Amino acid sequence: MSLTSSDTAARLAARAAAVIPGGVNSGQRRVPGLEDLVIAATSGSTFTDENGRVYTDYHAAFGPPLLGHNDPDVDAAAAAAARSVGLMGVGVTRVEIELAERLVDAVPSLEKVLLTATGSEATFHALRLARTVTGRRYVLKFQGCYHGWHDAVAMNVISPAERVGTKDPLSGGILPEVLAATIVCPFNDADAVERALDEHDGDVAAIILEPIPHNIGAVLPKPGFLERLRELATKHGTVLVYDEVITGFRHGLGGYQEACGVIPDLTTLGKAMANGWPVSALGGKAELMDLFSTTPGRPAFFAGTFNGHPATTAAALATVEKLQRDPVHEHVFRLGDRARAGLTSLYDRLGVPAVVSGFGSVFVTYFLDGLVENYDDLLRNDVEMFIGYRRELMKEGIFELPLNLKRSHFSYAHTDDDVDRLLEGTEAAVTRVLDSRR
Ligand SMILES: Cc1ncc(COP(=O)(O)O)c(C=O)c1O
Repeated sequence: MSLTSSDTAARLAARAAAVIPGGVNSGQRRVPGLEDLVIAATSGSTFTDENGRVYTDYHAAFGPPLLGHNDPDVDAAAAAAARSVGLMGVGVTRVEIELAERLVDAVPSLEKVLLTATGSEATFHALRLARTVTGRRYVLKFQGCYHGWHDAVAMNVISPAERVGTKDPLSGGILPEVLAATIVCPFNDADAVERALDEHDGDVAAIILEPIPHNIGAVLPKPGFLERLRELATKHGTVLVYDEVITGFRHGLGGYQEACGVIPDLTTLGKAMANGWPVSALGGKAELMDLFSTTPGRPAFFAGTFNGHPATTAAALATVEKLQRDPVHEHVFRLGDRARAGLTSLYDRLGVPAVVSGFGSVFVTYFLDGLVENYDDLLRNDVEMFIGYRRELMKEGIFELPLNLKRSHFSYAHTDDDVDRLLEGTEAAVTRVLDSRR
């Protein structure tokens, strides 16, 4: 029985399943137990389902609505742009210029920047550019990091224990040659990266990473890890790519690179960049970015019908302006700190082994003892508790995605009351799971 069932929702979900494979438009949206979840509306920190149930939303579409759903300033900017200038597919618009200038000012590694619609396109082009400039074959990624759906990186994210240390593609249809050209290392293990670079000496085009692997919750980089990657990349002539599709904007306008001070060669951005509108970006050193075919005759082909769409670009510009104008980061960081502290003492009190992790607005609880430094550690997570308490939480009107290792997010629309309700609701939910196990 679905947690969200009702006649209306079930009928709509059945209509969806009849014409949309699996009934949803992206993998990970059809969640066990939530097969009948049909979203009717969003507003600020909440969403409403087709049964009229309202939830406080911490899933936040995997991260974009940093200002809260339907931010009036961002949405008004997109609507105004849509009324005045449409997609042309030739030349450039004022709003694209203004956004690029803001991004170059804000993000330390950006000397030049290009817009895409999705994060996958941005990481795809980063790796293509790295291969173009180096003429090399391999790219290196980390177990647990996700960089989108394309073949070079669609592997080794949330892998079953027996596939860690082997190639674990997310999809069929990836050529073995492409799988072979991606090296996978454990996160926080710079020695493993050094060994891989030595082994494939002179043939690794790029190292790509989420500086905080948020696709497995929040595994923080150990002190010195990013510095070692920077040194190794420089020494080996390898392009260092930070995939800041999640950490960018959410952890600061300058991304996590601004907070950690270790600057990559290329950066990808997305998700929170336009508060939910589909805009992403790729930027970095001018000497690299100038190799894209946006300069005619240059070797790295780059194109996209919807790139720089005036309405979505205006949404991004309005997001940047609001992040600069309002104390957004101060607010979401404070709520995140409160939640992490409150959850830590809650689990202590309940005697539940837990590691409460996160950064800024992002929080996640792993149910395990000991340190969390890489994906191997997360294999000890009590998955039943992780998913179980989140299902119970829905009965409290609170939504954290009930899938293993998924993180939760605060937005500017969340309040201190929400933190109080989160702590109370979590206590009730966890207690019910514990009781059901006795
Ligand atoms: C870190 C990271 N990079 C890239 C992507 C791909 O972005 P998109 O889904 O917009 O293609 C994602 C999406 O979840 C992501 O989390």
